[in-house]
Amino acid sequence: MKKVTVKCPATVANLVCGFDVLGMCLEDPADIMEVFLLNENKVIVRSADGYPLPEDPAQNTAGAPLLEMLKEIDNNIGFEVLIHKKIKPGSGLGSSAASAAGAVVAANHLLDNRFSTLDLLKFSMFGEKVASGVKHADNVAPCIYGGITLIRSIHPLDIVELSSPPMYVTVVHPQIEVKTSDARQILRKEVQLKSAIRQWGNIAGLVAGLLKNDYQLISRSLEDVIIEPVRSMLIPGFEQVKTGCIEAGSLGGGISGSGPSIFMLNEKKESAFRAEEVMSKVFSEIGIEYKTYVTQINPRGVELVDNN
Ligand code: HSE
Repeated sequence: MKKVTVKCPATVANLVCGFDVLGMCLEDPADIMEVFLLNENKVIVRSADGYPLPEDPAQNTAGAPLLEMLKEIDNNIGFEVLIHKKIKPGSGLGSSAASAAGAVVAANHLLDNRFSTLDLLKFSMFGEKVASGVKHADNVAPCIYGGITLIRSIHPLDIVELSSPPMYVTVVHPQIEVKTSDARQILRKEVQLKSAIRQWGNIAGLVAGLLKNDYQLISRSLEDVIIEPVRSMLIPGFEQVKTGCIEAGSLGGGISGSGPSIFMLNEKKESAFRAEEVMSKVFSEIGIEYKTYVTQINPRGVELVDNN
């Protein structure tokens, strides 16, 4: 049976000020997915680690994008997916995006890359719809493209790949689950004009800072006056982590995606490890289990690790 294995990285959506429009791909953690080509029109998704998965592939974050892909193929083929999950669902690290993006990139390899990257992104967003009820691309786009991406628009899809200076990323994942759908529901539907002005100033500043390799501008722009004040209430220790890490030398950071993970960007490796110490101290004191990562920006996105 024809098969490929792909590595599907974690992602940080929003990058603090860019709700639904900015996302970054990480080196660590990453899922592994094995995808097999079937000679009948069906999609099967299985977990290698015993995670309970919905039986109906249309209700699965890897299955739904593959069903969309199959709609555009005449041949009588299908896919079987085996997921080795390392990115915990509900962590805010793009777990559903890794499954969705990994499935379509792997399937495309099995089909001799007949679909474009933009097609793959379009399919993978159906996985996000299953996971959170909304088609957002700020995890799937960086997961497929790698690096940092700006989602200028999803209707029509318009993705801008942003260059950035080298940075170390420190992440803490407190072991509590926050569902993206819940974290979206608590948001206010209207935004005050003065908050919007501050927010789009920060988004523009962050994009400019990334492109100009200006660490100080990046640091000043890592501010969210709209989403963070609401969502941070779901994350015990959030303020202590953020303040402590910035005091320890981080450029800034905030909630990763819809949380509960928190990430910090760092110019220097030393401050990335100091941020990890701060995070560990805060969650040890609060008494919540946690996992930390000191990692870097992954410029490659989903990648083939084996095609046998
Ligand atoms: N932009 C989305 C949100 C990302 O914050 O709801 C979810 O991972």
